[in-house]
Amino acid sequence: MKMTTPIVVCGSTLLFTSVLVVAVILPWATLGERPSAIVRPRTALEEEGRALYVNNGCAFCHTQFVRSIDWGLGAERVAQAGDYVADQPNLVGTERTGPDLSQEGGEHPDDWHRAHFANPRFTRPESVMPSWEFLGPVRLRALTAYVQSLGFRLADDRDGRQQTWKRRAQAAFDAGPEANVAWLHSMVPEPWRWLPNPYPTSPAGLERGHRIYESFCIGCHGPVGDGMGPAQPYLQPPPLNFTILRGRGVSGGILYYQIMNGITGTAMPYFKRELESEKIWDVGNYVAVTFIGQSDAGAAPRGIEASYEPSAEGR
Ligand code: HEC
Ligand code: HEC
Repeated sequence: MKMTTPIVVCGSTLLFTSVLVVAVILPWATLGERPSAIVRPRTALEEEGRALYVNNGCAFCHTQFVRSIDWGLGAERVAQAGDYVADQPNLVGTERTGPDLSQEGGEHPDDWHRAHFANPRFTRPESVMPSWEFLGPVRLRALTAYVQSLGFRLADDRDGRQQTWKRRAQAAFDAGPEANVAWLHSMVPEPWRWLPNPYPTSPAGLERGHRIYESFCIGCHGPVGDGMGPAQPYLQPPPLNFTILRGRGVSGGILYYQIMNGITGTAMPYFKRELESEKIWDVGNYVAVTFIGQSDAGAAPRGIEASYEPSAEGR
C-alpha cells in the first residue's frame, strides 16, 4: 500500500480512537463511580492524615493496591476499582520499598504506630523508613487515623478487635505479672502448651536466634529482654519483660505460638509472614535460654490430654 496523505491521516486517527476506546472510554463506561462494598466516607481527621500522607511522599515507598500475585499484607483481598472512588488524587503508587498499605488499618494498635512513626527502628530494627517525629503529636494522630482507615470497613472491623483486646491486655497487665502471664497463656491452644522446642540449644542455633532477636525484637523487648527497648515509652501495655516468665511454666510451644501469631491488642506483631518455622524455634530457644534461664529444647513431647477438644473461641 502506498502511504498517501489520506491513508496516513485516516490510519493514525483510527489507531488513536481505538487506543482511546480501550484505555479510556471502556474503563470509564464499565467501571463507573460505584464504590466497592468496603468503602465508607472518611472522617475529617482521616482526611487530614491523608493530606499528610500526600505531602510527605509516603506514596514514593508504599503502594495501595493488592494484586492477585501478592502474598503480603492484605493479600486476602485483591483491590477493586470501586475501592478508589473517594481518592483524589489516588495513591496507588508504584514503588514497594515498604509493604503495600491498602489493608494496613487495624493491622497494629495505635500505640504501635506511635512508636513506629517516632522512629521505625524502634519497632523494626532494620527498617529504612525515615522518622516522622518532626510532624509532632497532633499531626501524627491524624496520620495514624488515616493509616488505621486503610481498608475502610475491613479496617474498622480489625481496629475494633484491636481495641477490645487492648482493654483485656491492659487489665491483665495492671493485675500484676502472675495474672498477666496466666492471661497471655490462656490464649494459647492446649496442644501448643505441652510442646517442647524440637530444635537443640546448640551454640549455632542460639547464635542464629540472637541474630533474629537483634533484627526483629530488640527495639521492644530490649537487649537484656526486660522489655525496656527504645519503643517501651510509647507502648501500653509495654513490651513483655521476659524475666517474669521464670518458673511460670512457659514451654517452647507457647513461645512459638505467641511469636507466630502475635498478641492482638498489644504491640506484639505476628511474625508468620517474615520468619520461617525454624527461625521461630531458634529465636524461641534464644529467648528461653538467655532471658528466662530455662529451656525445654529437645525434651520428649508430653502429648495432650485424651479428653482435649479444641475450643471454639478464636481471637
Ligand atoms: C524510604 C521509604 C519509605 C517512606 C518514605 C515511608 N515508608 Fe513506611 N515503610 C517503609 C519500609 C521499608 C517499611 C517496612 C519496615 C517497617 O515496618 O518500618 C515501612 C513500613 C510502614 C508501615 C508499617 C506496615 C506494617 O504493618 O508492617 C506503615 C504504617 C508505614 N510504613 C507508613 C508510612 C507513612 C504514613 C509514611 C509517610 C509519612 C511512610 N510510611 C513513608 C518505607 C518507607
Ligand atoms: C513492637 C513491639 C514488639 C516487638 C517488635 C516484639 N514484641 Fe514480643 N511482645 C510485645 C508486647 C507488647 C507483648 C505483650 C506484653 C503484655 O501483654 O504484657 C509481647 C509479648 C511477647 C511474648 C509472649 C510471651 C508469653 O509467655 O506469652 C513473646 C514470646 C514475645 N513477645 C517474643 C517476641 C519475639 C521473639 C520478638 C521478635 C521476633 C518480639 N516479641 C517482637 C512487643 C513486641
